[in-house]
Amino acid sequence: MNIAIAQSGGPTCAINASLLGVFRAAYKSSEVDAIFGSINGIEGMIGDNLINLKSVIRTNEDMELLRQTPSTVLGSCRYKLPDYEKDTEVYEKIAACFEKHMIDSFVYIGGNDSMDTVVKLSAYFEKTGKPYRVIGVPKTIDNDLPITDHTPGFGSAAKYVATTVQEIIRDSSVYSIDSVTVIEIMGRHAGWLTASACVLRAIGQEAPHLIYLPEADVNVPRILDDIRRERAKHQAVIVAVSEGIDVSSLAESAGVTTAGVDAFGHKFQNGVGKVLERIIAKEFGCKVRSIELNVMQRCSSHLCSKTDIEEAEAIGAAGLRAALSGHTGKMMYFRRISDTPYETVIEMTDAFQCANLEKKFPKEWITPSQNNVTDEAIRYFLPLIQGDVKLITRCGLPMHFDRSSFEAFTNL
Ligand code: F6P
Repeated sequence: MNIAIAQSGGPTCAINASLLGVFRAAYKSSEVDAIFGSINGIEGMIGDNLINLKSVIRTNEDMELLRQTPSTVLGSCRYKLPDYEKDTEVYEKIAACFEKHMIDSFVYIGGNDSMDTVVKLSAYFEKTGKPYRVIGVPKTIDNDLPITDHTPGFGSAAKYVATTVQEIIRDSSVYSIDSVTVIEIMGRHAGWLTASACVLRAIGQEAPHLIYLPEADVNVPRILDDIRRERAKHQAVIVAVSEGIDVSSLAESAGVTTAGVDAFGHKFQNGVGKVLERIIAKEFGCKVRSIELNVMQRCSSHLCSKTDIEEAEAIGAAGLRAALSGHTGKMMYFRRISDTPYETVIEMTDAFQCANLEKKFPKEWITPSQNNVTDEAIRYFLPLIQGDVKLITRCGLPMHFDRSSFEAFTNL
């Protein structure tokens, strides 16, 4: 039999490690012949745009490079499948692709939107009596998938955020003038990644002094009061703010607009930090700087977590094994057994339990003041950022997997 793999949604540092996990498990299996990669997620299956992965991942070095390369080597998409009861055309195209390439199992590595594809496609195949299996492997820096203890990609992003916030703290305190630095962190509607900056407390670092999450009760008067209080204690106040905080009314007054929505109706988010910068500067008249960590927090593989990368590879392999043993419509997930020593097991659940759903940061881990998180959060986050990956470098620079041969092997 042949298998296919695709990557979908926002990139991470670990999604290629999951691809490698699927690839290696398939390579080792006596049941699998060809291993196809679908270019740009499900769009590759719709448009019959596949790559023969055995032709491009050939050596041990290729595999090592793939593991340390951020983003999605197969490309990604934010494509929402239509309801198959209303529109079967796209499903027929996908089924034709499975048939043409004799694909038996399909592993889809993605977030909550991608699990929607796993649910719909597996249901369509079951309904139409097609024997194909579809398995979801989670990923997202947002850490907002239900059921799983955490998502691959999150640990590396959290390690980058905490490390970078600490560096910003150093840089922000060089002058003898008062300042406020606002750091905007990704996570869409969930505050996990912003909250993860709290791990700096584990090494005695007091900042960020304020952490604002979408799950907290946050408003401008409250933020300004908090900052006033922190300014009385610190010359350089550091604020971590989640991109998911609803500042639309503030944005409006500051003349900032949001650009639009994607196919899943998510707002293209950015600008919370800038809006707060203007509001804080107006109120206090001190030096205020906003810093948007932006895509660096999801592609800085030079700072990735070894735990995250190893887990990402393991859950990819588990996904392939689940498909080969006949499962479909499932998503693999981590169940945490203990924090210290850190131990997890990989299990599977129905993908519909995660599709389109968001797991928010727990309200009970937000301090009553609504502007920070409790030590329970530190205990949860710390194991996920442990370990460093020794990168293959050349000329002092980390090397990435070379995609230039892809064109020659697409649709073989
Ligand atoms: O879903 C992951 C994520 O990185 C979010 O944190 C962020 O809001 C979003 O993707 C950005 O999406 P895009 O890369 O499509 O702009």
